[in-house]
Amino acid sequence: MSDQLLLDVRDLRVSFRTRRGRVTAVDGLSLSVAPGEILGVVGESGSGKSVSMLAVLRLLTNPNVTVSGEVLFRDRDLLTLPDKQMRAIRGREIAMVFQDPMTALTPVYTVGWQIAEQIRAHEQVSRKEAHVRAVGLLSDVGIPDAASRVNAYPHEFSGGMRQRAVIAMALACSPALLIADEPTTALDVTIQAQILDLMRELNARGSAVVLITHDMGVVSEIADRVLVMYGGRAAEEGPRQAVFHGPRHPYTWGLLDSVPRVGGPRLRRLPTIAGVPVSPDSLPEGCAFAPRCRLRHDRCDERPQLSAAPVDFTHRDACWLSPGDRASLRLAARAAATGEATAEHAAAEAGSGAGHAMDGADEANETYEVGVDKEAAP
Ligand SMILES: Nc1ncnc2c1ncn2[C@@H]1O[C@H](COP(=O)(O)OP(=O)(O)O)[C@@H](O)[C@H]1O
Ligand code: SF4
Ligand SMILES: [Mg+2]
Repeated sequence: MSDQLLLDVRDLRVSFRTRRGRVTAVDGLSLSVAPGEILGVVGESGSGKSVSMLAVLRLLTNPNVTVSGEVLFRDRDLLTLPDKQMRAIRGREIAMVFQDPMTALTPVYTVGWQIAEQIRAHEQVSRKEAHVRAVGLLSDVGIPDAASRVNAYPHEFSGGMRQRAVIAMALACSPALLIADEPTTALDVTIQAQILDLMRELNARGSAVVLITHDMGVVSEIADRVLVMYGGRAAEEGPRQAVFHGPRHPYTWGLLDSVPRVGGPRLRRLPTIAGVPVSPDSLPEGCAFAPRCRLRHDRCDERPQLSAAPVDFTHRDACWLSPGDRASLRLAARAAATGEATAEHAAAEAGSGAGHAMDGADEANETYEVGVDKEAAP
């Protein structure tokens, strides 16, 4: 099986030794990415998205960190590769884009020099040729007047331009995999859309993408497959259509209900998931979502494993609810969530409350709005 996968992460665990004791940020996570695929990784802040990808890239170098599991990339285990080989993979076979583009740019060199060096690190080309390619790449990512901007320093670029420059660096090496961690979170909606277009373009040229975001709208637009994370574990995983049209895990229901659907009811206040995200220093033995789950029952004290319902082996979730009950429980949960939010302004919303929300379960209504970025809101 693994020969068809580009990235095959198995039972990844990451823990930190802190003054409060050992905290487990990633707790037995498995995920895979096929060549050319876009995997959207979603989950609230603190669910272990960044830490798991930093572990995959071997960028957690702090001595207080313990990482275990397997990270098979093109059938090599990145966790056991010599540093030198790992450095060669980063930037050439795997490129990275982070929320803060300054983590990838050095303030003291011009943007063009940094892109040119990236090219020269992996290809035998002259300085001059690399410079010309850098201008071309900056132009490709939509930097106006690239021939002169190539000589600017990162601080002379806006945030959106810096993120484009980092993507230009990724484009420079046509990576087999791009890992992008909240690449658009700090940007306004128009620039966000442009950056997503660039990622689509990179993908169209053959790169697989792992896109981490807490914006379900973004995932609904761009991902082939979706992984929903909670408490450092996978809560649900499957093809985009399956997850958006037939979400199975109560946590995924909560995430989806907190994003407006295109053509769905207009709510002044969106429903939120009750309770606070689980902290990695107090992960329950059983289901990590149990303290917030309205459907919690006795069995939830035992940890549910990610498994598929008999009808579709590509769509898996970690929840003890019976697969046959999910659809009706989902509708009831959505009606309750929308109903509660609606109750606050019942007069304005008369006639478009819970009943309307349940109508929204048909497929046509399962398109989610992009850029409703509640966590980034002040
Ligand atoms: N250096 C660290 N020391 C201790 N805990 C950490 C450290 N880095 C991250 N964590 C914890 O790991 C958990 C997962 O973090 P992170 O992967 O950044 O979440 P996400 O990217 O999903 O928002 C968080 O609860 C965070 O507090
Ligand atoms: S396993 Fe139990 S607590 Fe966890 S999501 Fe399912 S019903 Fe809720
Ligand atoms: Mg993060």
